[in-house]
Amino acid sequence: MNLTIPQGWRLIFKKETLSTNEDVKALPAGSDKTAVCAEMQTGGRGRMGRRWVSPKGNLYVSVCVELASLREAEIYSFLSAVALAEAIESVCPELEIKCKWPNDLMIDGKKVSGILLETDGVKRLIVGIGVNIADFPATGTLYPVTSLTASGHPVTKEAVLEALLRRFDTWQKELKNGGKAAVLEAWRQRAFGLGGKIAVNLPDKRLEGTFDGLDKDGRLLLNRSGEIIAITAGDVFFGGKE
Ligand code: BTN
Repeated sequence: MNLTIPQGWRLIFKKETLSTNEDVKALPAGSDKTAVCAEMQTGGRGRMGRRWVSPKGNLYVSVCVELASLREAEIYSFLSAVALAEAIESVCPELEIKCKWPNDLMIDGKKVSGILLETDGVKRLIVGIGVNIADFPATGTLYPVTSLTASGHPVTKEAVLEALLRRFDTWQKELKNGGKAAVLEAWRQRAFGLGGKIAVNLPDKRLEGTFDGLDKDGRLLLNRSGEIIAITAGDVFFGGKE
């Protein structure tokens, strides 16, 4: 791959790997701003311990972020989603990308991308991004899914990756200068289902209500007849049904 990447970044390309998140986890210290991209993954992982089926043709990339403290990790869920949404729109100009909490990207209510954030437990954040470019699983997904090609935008994964690293780098600078608020506001402007009914599946229970927005730390605010509950993790279903 011959790509133009932002200054200070490094891109490692692999034909096949287990999971690019694992590859980034194994990088030596001092690997901030290194991205690992693979043509296919044999053990691609999704959120909540699910598989991320990873055939050739889609984008699988993980970015290494060395943090001052793991407390900085949460905002990257939103930063990554916004950077990726802007990147996709820049190569598919007439497309409108929405962000579904916490970090899925949607086209017309269908999931086109997923992001898996992991840490090494110390100070490294691994931002794993999968974008359905040419292909998407036909069955076995919790949500309706699509690809950029199926939505009428047969772009290359190289074009999306180049734009992604550029926007990611820009948003990291924005975060440094302006703090979390700008990132959360950019996310909120793309929020999928704001004000609508949602159901949240937590590990031990299911809560229903309306999606009231985000708090200052990016937690989802669920309104249950006036009682506001801040949700940090869980599967969210929009429209009040699965
Ligand atoms: C989700 O469940 O929505 C998150 C999917 C994240 C998939 C990406 S593909 C690149 C990176 N490597 C992995 O094993 N997973 C992430």
